[in-house]
Parts: sequence; C-alpha cells; structure tokens
Amino acid sequence: MHSRIQREIESLRTELSDHEYRYYVLAQPTITDEAYDAMMQRLVDLERQHPEWITPESPTQRVGGIPTKEFPTVTHKIPMLSLANTYSEEEIRNFDRRVQETLGQKKYRYVCELKFDGIAISVRYENGIMVQGATRGDGIQGDDITQNLKTIRSIPLRLRTSVRGSLEVRGEAYMKRADFQRMNEERQLAGEKPFVNPRNSAAGTLKLQDPKLVAQRPLNFVAYFLSSGEHARANHYDNLQQLKEWGFPTSTHTRLCSSVEEVVSYWKLWEAQRETLPFDIDGVVVKVDSIAQQEQLGVIAKSPRWAVAFKFASRKAETKLLNILLQVGRLGTITPVAALEPVFVGGSTVSRATLHNEDYIRELDIRPGDTVVLEKGGDVIPKVSSVVQSKRPEQSSVFQFPQTCPECGSKLFRSEGEANYYCENSDCPAQIKGRIEHFASRGAMDIEGLGEAIVDQFVNLGLIKTVADLYALPSHRQTIVELDGWGQKSADKLFNAIEKSKSRPFEHVIYALGIRHVGAGIAQLLVDNFPTIHQLIGANEEKLRHVAGVGPQIAESIVRFFADPHNRLLIDRLQHASVQMSVHNNRKPSSGVLVGKTFVLTGTLNALTREEAKQRIEALGGKVVGSVSKNTSYLVIGSDPGTKLEKAKTLGIQLLDEEKFLNIIQSAS
Ligand code: IVH
Repeated sequence: MHSRIQREIESLRTELSDHEYRYYVLAQPTITDEAYDAMMQRLVDLERQHPEWITPESPTQRVGGIPTKEFPTVTHKIPMLSLANTYSEEEIRNFDRRVQETLGQKKYRYVCELKFDGIAISVRYENGIMVQGATRGDGIQGDDITQNLKTIRSIPLRLRTSVRGSLEVRGEAYMKRADFQRMNEERQLAGEKPFVNPRNSAAGTLKLQDPKLVAQRPLNFVAYFLSSGEHARANHYDNLQQLKEWGFPTSTHTRLCSSVEEVVSYWKLWEAQRETLPFDIDGVVVKVDSIAQQEQLGVIAKSPRWAVAFKFASRKAETKLLNILLQVGRLGTITPVAALEPVFVGGSTVSRATLHNEDYIRELDIRPGDTVVLEKGGDVIPKVSSVVQSKRPEQSSVFQFPQTCPECGSKLFRSEGEANYYCENSDCPAQIKGRIEHFASRGAMDIEGLGEAIVDQFVNLGLIKTVADLYALPSHRQTIVELDGWGQKSADKLFNAIEKSKSRPFEHVIYALGIRHVGAGIAQLLVDNFPTIHQLIGANEEKLRHVAGVGPQIAESIVRFFADPHNRLLIDRLQHASVQMSVHNNRKPSSGVLVGKTFVLTGTLNALTREEAKQRIEALGGKVVGSVSKNTSYLVIGSDPGTKLEKAKTLGIQLLDEEKFLNIIQSAS
C-alpha cells in the first residue's frame, strides 16, 4: 500500500521537476499551468498525509524555509575569485600576450561569455541533490542563502542525471529588464521605494530574510562555472555542456574563439547588440578553455590569470550643464532639457538630455553651470543622474523654472497634482508645428516627405496653421514652387503624398488628431465601438467608459476635445477634404449569414488562431471588434477568458464556446 503511494510521490516529483526544467530552463513548456498546478496539488496532498516522506529536494520544498534573522556564514571550499578588468583592445591584446608567453608554443583557445550584471552565487550538490547555496561575500566566506536560492525555479534541486559525490556550480542570479520594470511599477503602486536597476533589485532580493518574499520576485539564474574534482571535464566549454545536461540554464551566447581577433569581434558585437538582450550585461568574460592550461596560468592576488573581464565603455560620464532649455510639445507640455557640453558616453556623443520636470530639477538641485553625471540607462536615453557638488561654481543660485513659454511668451500653468507645466495657448507656434508633425507621422496619416523642416518652413510663412490647411496647400502651388529648395517636381511629390493620406483608415485619422491620451491602440478601440465620426462626437463620458481600455481620464479628454469649437471646425474641414471619417471595410461582403453581427473574441481557441477566426467571421459578413459593448452580438470564449467575459455577462450578451462557434461558421460556410 505504502509503496504504491511512495511510487506515485516519486513519479510526481520527477515529472514536476521535468516540467519546471522545460518551463524555466528551456522556455518550452509542454503542459498548461493548470495541469502543472493540479499535479503539484496532488503531491502537496500526498506529502501532507505522509510528512515522513518529504525530502528537501521535493518540488514542494522550493518555498519551504522559515524567515531567519541572520544568514549563517559559509566558507567556500574553493575561493570565489573575481576577474581583472580590461577596457580596451590594447589591454585585451596584452592579456593575450601574457597567456601566450606562459603557455609557450602550445595552442590555446578562449571561451567568450557574456558578463551578466547580477550577483555571483555558488550552489553545492551532494549525490545530485542541492544542499547549499551561498553568496560570494569576500570570496572566502559568504552568506548561506540556501532557502532563497531554492525559490529560483531554474536552479535544479536535483540534477537530471544521477551524479555521485559532491560538486559546486557557480553562476549569476539576475533579473530581466522587463521583469524588473514590472516589479518596480508594482512597488510604486504599493507605495514602496523602487529599485535603481535590475542588479540592485537582484541583490536586494537575495538579502531578504523571508524566502516567501524571494519566491515572489522574478529572479533568474545562469551557470558559468563548474568546480568539482571528479566530474570536471578537460575543457571549460565541455564543463558548460555538462552543466546543461544536468539541467542548469547556460548562456546560448557563449562562443569558442581561437584568436584574440575573434575575442575582440565578440566584444564589439555585444557592445553594439547589448540592448537586444532581455537582461543587462556590462561586458564579456574571456576564459582560457583548457583546464590544464588554466592551472598552468594560475592565480594572482584574487583573480585568475586565465580569465579576464572585458568591459564595455562606461555608460556614465561627467560633463558641464551649459543651460536648461524648455521644449514645448504638441499638447503644450513643457519639458526641461539639459544643454550639455558634448561628451562621449556609452558609444555616442551626447549634448542633450531630458530633465523630466520641475520637481526633478529641484530634487537634484540642478543648476546651469554645474558639472553633472550623465548616465545611459537600459533604454539608451541619456539622463542627468546627479550633480557633482564639489565642482559647483561659487556664484550659483537655485534654478527658477521660467514662468512664460519660450516659444510664444504666454504664461505657463502647472495644476495641482501635475508634474508638468503647460502652455495653454493653442496658437503657440511650437504646438502648431508639433500637431502638424504628429498628424503627418507614420502610423498617423503617414504623409511622406512632410518632416520637421518643411513643417517649420510652411508654418513660419503662414501657409499652414492647422492640419486641415495641409489639404489646401495645392492652392498655394505657385508660392511653394518659388520657395528656396522647392521646384515643380518636389511640390508635386508632396501634393501626391497629401492626396494619398485621404485614404488612410478612420482609426489612423483619430490617432492623427492628437487627442491627449489617445494613442494608436485607443484609437482602434474607439473606431471599433463608434464607427463614424458622428457617433464618436456624440458619445458622452459614460458611453466612452463602457469601452474596455478607456478609463475616466481618456473619456474626459475625448469629450473635451470634441467640445472645442475649433476642433469641430477642423473635423468639418477634414471631412470636406475627403479624409476618412468612418470605418470602411473593403473586405466586408454585403451578403453572408453573419451580416450585421458583431463578434468579440476572448481567451485562446484550440482549432484556429484569432486572426483565422476573424477572417472566417468577416468572410461571412460579420464584424470582429476588440471590446464588448451592448452592440456586441456574440462573445466567443476560448480557454483562459479575460475580463470581457464578466462584462458580457453583465450586459447579457450571447456567449459561444468554441464548439458552438465552430458549428456556426461551419454550417454557414
Ligand atoms: S567567471 C574565476 N563568468 O563577474 C571566474 N563571472 O569579477 C570567476 N560574472 O563575480 C567568475 N558573468 O559575478 C564569470 N560569464 C561570467 C560572468 C561572471 C558575470 C561576474 C561574477 C563575478 C564577476 C567577476
């Protein structure tokens, strides 16, 4: 009897860790989350009935530890070394020369790896079972953070193949940029202090005394070193292969290089491509591949002579803040911008950086004339991160935020609770230009050739003042042709592009109008629910808020936009110019059994993709929109339906499961 249950427990454990491996290491899950949860629940239940059979490496024990006051100290069996840093091609060639001199005539190869910007950790296994995890500490002694590390799902609690004896695996615990950002947003919502960057966030997480909290944080692991007398292979590269077979995540970007030239190209490649990775790196690591040669090269001080960190150029630099300028956006938003003495940082020369708003300047007490620290973050947008107080000129005073618009001289407003100042003069030339540029931009009316310089030129000459004036430009043909830099051909080209914009779909027009808070996504939702401009103008805030995705702020902004007589006139003129003011669905047949029926899809369908479902519905004359409203005829429900289901239920919309839906489209076609 017992042995049957014991066997079930054992097979659940094997299967669950297999699924963890597929999900967290290979990123190729083969079962649904629900099936996984059910299996886990079964194991939890069995272990609850038989606590005597719980083992520390059971998948149920990832979040088992109780909070501690202090981490016990661990002495590393083999010291955790750090790496010497190099920053230039010259330094890396010097490193290579030293390797060559020591190894004599022998051939050697390098393994090049990414230098993950996280926290070094070491994990010990006995007979294939994880028994301890520790931080690097001072390299000799670190903190025992076993319970915290067990919560990281990509660290195997039991190796995938059976291994006798002991071994130690070292690697980096890190956080992906997107996970970090999401977590920080949640922290801010909860009133907690945000972390500065993914690295600090990983470090702070591993220091938490409660493993339950650690388990909620999105930590990842990558293994890059195996230390073991018995199991190590002859080369580092093969050790990485071995780690992979045991179930550890290893980097897919590791390369074997047979010359220093290849090493330099690898470094250059990743310097240029680092933004494409989902996590931060601060350089590459170069290691001699052969373990015998590593031993021959040895260790000096705390770093090996067989490996080196080849870091990227610093993404921080000091420079002088020449002035603080104000930029006026198309909606009148005022953004302070730092005019800087040009400085080379993170691969490019920077002379401008955003200062966000008045509060940011006040908080850091930034003053023109200051020496400031410029930093390039993960998103490459340079920002001023601090002031070097010691270099502040003697006669400097706190920056007073200007009270008038630099473009039109109007008084600036900052309402309570808002971070930004606004220029409320809608005739402000900066706003006029900004609105027209936005209208012409890609994703909006996409008017090729109508860029910033031409908009400037035309606005300054008084040829255009609103976006509707664009469609009257051909009547100024003679004037334009005679302008500097213009001729018959270039004028015709522009007029053609403007003519073409008249066929842009309605959702592009709505986006192009530049209503505050209405991006391309919201514009699509609006036209799905209000297919003509009259319906949209006629919608009050309450009606607008019925559209999923449209909150009170957006609804208010839309109503305010259309209530303005200038904007109404603008719409009239655009309509006169034959710009699209309603949804035209060319594909829509006028016959078909689903004519007049509006569908909304939610969740995942088994038999076909969303796009396929949409095409089938449209082919039968029906329409598919993004959100549920009282005009919806059917809600089609796949697995894991979203909030649309609740909404449809409250509105009494007819619901179709996948089977019913397929029946309808099959019998109709
Ligand atoms: S190897 C003796 N490989 O860089 C070998 N380290 O100062 C020691 N790091 O503390 C480390 N990515 O936190 C190695 N692919 C990589 C690495 C890496 C990041 C970190 C690690 C270490 C520091 C070196």
